Amino acid sequence: NTATQDNLARLRERGVTIVDPEEGMLACGSTGAGRLANTERIINTIYKILGTVNDLEGVRLVVTAGGTQEPIDPVRHIANRSSGKMGYAIAAAAKERGAMVTLVTAPTTVPIPVGVEARHVQTALEMRHAVIEATAQADAIIMAAAVADYRPSIPADSKLKRDASSITLGLVQNPDILSEVKRSIVRIGFAAESENLVENASQKVKEKKLDLIVANDITAPGCGFGSDTNKVVLVTRRGKMEELPLLPKTDVAMKILDKLVEILAARKGVKE
Ligand code: PMT
Repeated sequence: NTATQDNLARLRERGVTIVDPEEGMLACGSTGAGRLANTERIINTIYKILGTVNDLEGVRLVVTAGGTQEPIDPVRHIANRSSGKMGYAIAAAAKERGAMVTLVTAPTTVPIPVGVEARHVQTALEMRHAVIEATAQADAIIMAAAVADYRPSIPADSKLKRDASSITLGLVQNPDILSEVKRSIVRIGFAAESENLVENASQKVKEKKLDLIVANDITAPGCGFGSDTNKVVLVTRRGKMEELPLLPKTDVAMKILDKLVEILAARKGVKE
């Protein structure tokens, strides 16, 4: 319509950015320019206008999130209280900063961030498989998932009956996924601790030979599982520490990604 076109032209003159519609089959039955633009294109345009930094452009990043579920029988499982919020915040922020993000996610109710490729898993063994596959072509991994350390040794094929006064559940250890990820990529882990935060995290960063560990005091108010905020200490393998205040998980994600950018730059410097 001429009036619509005139109005759009006037908005452009005033410096307003327009995301043009896409071409294709329209609801009225004819074909032409009139389809709602692809969500990713809209979001990317907004990022551009807001001047978001693109310092992870071209970086292939794998992020894990959520708590794995280990089946006891077809209707019950062992789980933990991870909501996925921390990992999803990292995935969204990394995408915003230009990374190509694969999110390996255990079941959560958080929506997949726009433009992020998701691999859905349930158990630790499934997460291991997806992580090994996704990291084959990646530059870095950030493991925020709460992986079950143990799984029922023999999950029952049919629903367990309530006919014994007590039962014993046999558990076997799950593999340590992060330790199995190839060392050539940047590996960042989390340490969910309820005591001796920095000591335990420092031990984990060395044991798992990580580049960085995010030490997470899960007992402090507003921290860790389920909350929208988190308070963490960033600990490098060489023992350098940075304690962050209580922040929204979206801001914690940005701080972790700042470190990732530093680590990637340092590695590039070593190679050149
Ligand atoms: O999901 P939210 O509700 O937002 O909560 C966020 C969180 C508390 C889950 C998150 O911030 C966090 O701390 N995640 C790590 C939880 C954890 O499993 O910590 P851990 O200390 O047990 O494990 C250390 C590291 O090894 C972690 O990066 C973990 O992903 C990894 N791991 C653990 C066990 C295992 N079998 N394989 C692993 O790779």
